[in-house]
Formats: sequence, structure tokens, C-alpha cells
Amino acid sequence: MSTQASSLTNTTIGKKMVMAVSGLVLFGFVIGHMLGNLQVFLGPDAINGYSHTLHATPVLIWGARSVLLVAIVAHATTAISLARLNRAARPVAYAVKKDIATDYAAKTMFWSGLTIALYIAYHLAHLTFGMTKGLGYQHLPFDANGLPDVYHNLVQSFRVPWCTALYVVAQGALSMHLYHGAWSLFQTLGVNHKRYNETLRSSAVAVAMAVCVGFLAVPLAVLFGVVK
Ligand code: HEM
Repeated sequence: MSTQASSLTNTTIGKKMVMAVSGLVLFGFVIGHMLGNLQVFLGPDAINGYSHTLHATPVLIWGARSVLLVAIVAHATTAISLARLNRAARPVAYAVKKDIATDYAAKTMFWSGLTIALYIAYHLAHLTFGMTKGLGYQHLPFDANGLPDVYHNLVQSFRVPWCTALYVVAQGALSMHLYHGAWSLFQTLGVNHKRYNETLRSSAVAVAMAVCVGFLAVPLAVLFGVVK
């Protein structure tokens, strides 16, 4: 990294830009992944074919994984560093905490982020590596040809109420995180005006809700027998 670039990422605004860019990359992944999952409603051939194409194209899957990993590391480490800077700037907490600018989602940003990180660890063990056998569902990570049988893995898993419940909790955390992330992005970009703030806030809520509904459609459709 050049000296200029590294001194920019050492400033608060530089760090906020890193958060914004890495957050947008992660958001792009979330939308793509959600649309990919919705292919469950088109039947086993659609979603399994999609997964097999990804796995058969190493440049695509490893390219995406590398970008994703860099974005996750940048997002998490910069968040920690920003929190430290904030604390150092205000070593003594306010005597009376006024929560005018920060709302519930802002205060829980750290906890929703941590929940998502733990969820991703479980999620990879569950659906990518097939390491969660014996937790109450029959797990079939790979079919007879050694390829992931995504459709049946999802159906076998989400028939089990606790597994679906776990995904519901994780989606709740993700939605909170996305809502506040979108709102913070507008602030970082300087899109902040009394006249538009209500519209911006409603757009952030709409995006978070759409992602929540899009992701939860699959586990809930399986649990309630719409997808079998
Ligand atoms: C109901 C919600 C979700 C379902 C049904 C789902 C389903 C899946 C499936 C089936 C795979 C394995 C795909 C394959 O091997 O072809 C997968 C991988 C993955 N999912 Fe999800 N997912 C959900 C939510 C999420 C969320 C919210 C995130 C992140 C915020 C996420 C992150 C990932 C990652 C990082 C991978 C690994 C991709 C790779 O192979 O490198 N998933 N998911």
C-alpha cells in the first residue's frame, strides 16, 4: 500500500470509506446469494445446476471466495479499529447517555456483527463442509457424483424446527446490521438532509426487510411443507 493510501486508511474518514466499500461488496454477495437460494422454488435441477456450475468453474468460485474473504477481514478489523478510535476520543463516558442519534440498531451493531460471524462459521460447517451430521437432521452434503445436493440438503435441514429457528435468529441479526449499515453509508457519503432523512431511513428499512424475507422464504417454505 502506498504511504498516501495507508495514511488515508488511518484516518476516521478513511476507515469509514473502507467500511462502506467492504460493506457494499458484502451486500452484493448477500443479494446474489439470496437470489441463488430462491431457485429452490424452481425445483432441484435449477438450484443444483446452479451450484454445480459454480463448483465446476474454479475461477468463479475461488475468485468470489477471495474477494469475500478480503471484504470480511477488512470490514471486521476496520470496525474494531473505529470502535477503539471512538473510545480513545471519549475516554470518559457521557454522564447522561442521550440516544438521539443512535438507535437500537446502532447500539447492537457489534452484537449483530458477532452473531453473523458465528452464524457464517456454523453455516459453512452445515452446508459447505457437511460437518454437522448427527445434529437432528440427515445431512447429504454430496450426491453420488461427489457434487453438493443443495436442494436435498436444504429440505433435510429446514424440516427440523431448531435448524430453521437458528436461521431465523441469524436473519434477524443480518437485517438489523444491514439497516444500520445502509443508514451509516448514507452518512459517510454525506447524504444527510432533514428533507430526505425520512426517505433514506425508510429505504434502509425496506432493503433490510427485503433481504430478510428473501432469505427466510426458503427455510420457512420447507418447514411448512411448501417445498419438499
Ligand atoms: C436461509 C438463508 C440461507 C440459505 C438457505 C443458504 C444456503 C447456502 C448453501 C446451500 C450454501 C452451499 C452452496 C454450495 O455449496 O453450492 C451456502 C454457502 C454459503 N453461504 Fe449461505 N445461505 C443462507 C444465508 C446466508 C447468509 C445470510 C450468509 C452471509 C451473510 C451466507 C453466506 C454463505 C457463504 C459465505 C457460503 C460459502 C460459499 C462458498 O462456497 O464459498 N449464507 N449457503
